[in-house]
Amino acid sequence: MAETRTDPVPADVPLFLRRNGFAPPAELLTGDRVRRVPWLTGGSAWLVTRQADVKAVLADPARFSNVPPEPGAVGGEVAGNLLLMDPPDHHRLRRMLTGQFTHRRMRHLAPLVERVVEEHLDAMERSGPGADLVADFALPVPSLVICELLGVPWEDRAEFKERSATMLDLSLPESARDQAQREIHEYLAGLVGRIGEEPGDDLLGMLVRDHGDELTTAELAGLGFLLLVAGHETTANMLALGTLVLLGHPDQLAAVRDDPEAVEPAVEELMRWLSIVPSGVQRYATADVGVAGETIRAGDVVIVGLHTANRDPDFVTDPATLDISRGEVGHLGFGHGVHHCLGAPLARLEMRIAFPALFRRFPALALAVPENEVEFRALSAVYGVTALPVTW
Ligand code: HEM
Repeated sequence: MAETRTDPVPADVPLFLRRNGFAPPAELLTGDRVRRVPWLTGGSAWLVTRQADVKAVLADPARFSNVPPEPGAVGGEVAGNLLLMDPPDHHRLRRMLTGQFTHRRMRHLAPLVERVVEEHLDAMERSGPGADLVADFALPVPSLVICELLGVPWEDRAEFKERSATMLDLSLPESARDQAQREIHEYLAGLVGRIGEEPGDDLLGMLVRDHGDELTTAELAGLGFLLLVAGHETTANMLALGTLVLLGHPDQLAAVRDDPEAVEPAVEELMRWLSIVPSGVQRYATADVGVAGETIRAGDVVIVGLHTANRDPDFVTDPATLDISRGEVGHLGFGHGVHHCLGAPLARLEMRIAFPALFRRFPALALAVPENEVEFRALSAVYGVTALPVTW
């Protein structure tokens, strides 16, 4: 499989979002460790590219804040969105959720994930021998799991599915993205209100029951919103892209299918190699601060290149090669520091169950179109493919 693709990336895709197929642009992997890049809304931002600097920025929330300096700089609702908060407020809210994502809790969730995966594979098998892996597997599986976990009725999914895609589509005007975000919030505020009258055993019910008096309705809706959106498109894109990549590496695919020991390291290597969240991670400097010889000024926007950091040759040997046997490297695909992905244990659980189940069910799985016809989402906060036609 070609590591890079030659199809032109639209000119309006900013450098920090550009990809050469799966890889970050080569020019970001060499040269200045920290550099000025055009920012989405005009003006410029600092892009930090190397692993050590990225970790230092993410480990320093006092100087690299998640709270935009000008109120209103980020559209839509803010309450309850952990990604727009700093300690100690961030800690106050996050600690209410950590119990829901422990390894113990994940062991209880495994049967649910297995059931959802098997049901979707059954449906694919019935309607096959071909499917769109995004629409028929990669998207609905994590979506159903997060809905069940949160207590969002599956019938309501249409309410937020389209809107969640709109929100992440950076090629749309900001007003359209804000509008979509507001509508998901409104839906969740209504849902939280209904749950308040009769809290169930799910995550939102637990939050209402155990922390209802510490949280405003807007915060509850905001937390639900973040989990719903963060738990949805991210894992879906990893499942689809991961499948595409493994189809191009048949030996490694066979290991994931046949060797249970290979699955965990394979998921970690796919996370490193794909780094699907390159740009969602941004911070605002609160003081003048030096990074790799540059002075970043108070108020400047700092973009943390998780995708470049994960291919930093100082951190991993032969970074461009996908090698599921390379062992633990401590990739940054789930971020680092206080905002490290809360849902990482769930995402890992889903991937560890879904990949081998898919490859075992369809040992002859193959792309149904030439590889260079697979359409990538060039301008999205989360890297992915729009569809993945497969056959078996
Ligand atoms: C944060 C990636 C799945 C919930 C993050 C961050 C990254 C990330 C890079 C840090 C952002 C930052 O520091 O600015 C991913 C990837 C996933 C995934 C690649 C799938 C493979 C999930 C799932 C959930 C989730 C399944 C929910 C169930 C969250 C939340 C945060 C977060 C709530 C914010 C944490 C905080 O600010 O304290 N994720 N994520 N993620 N993720 Fe994930």
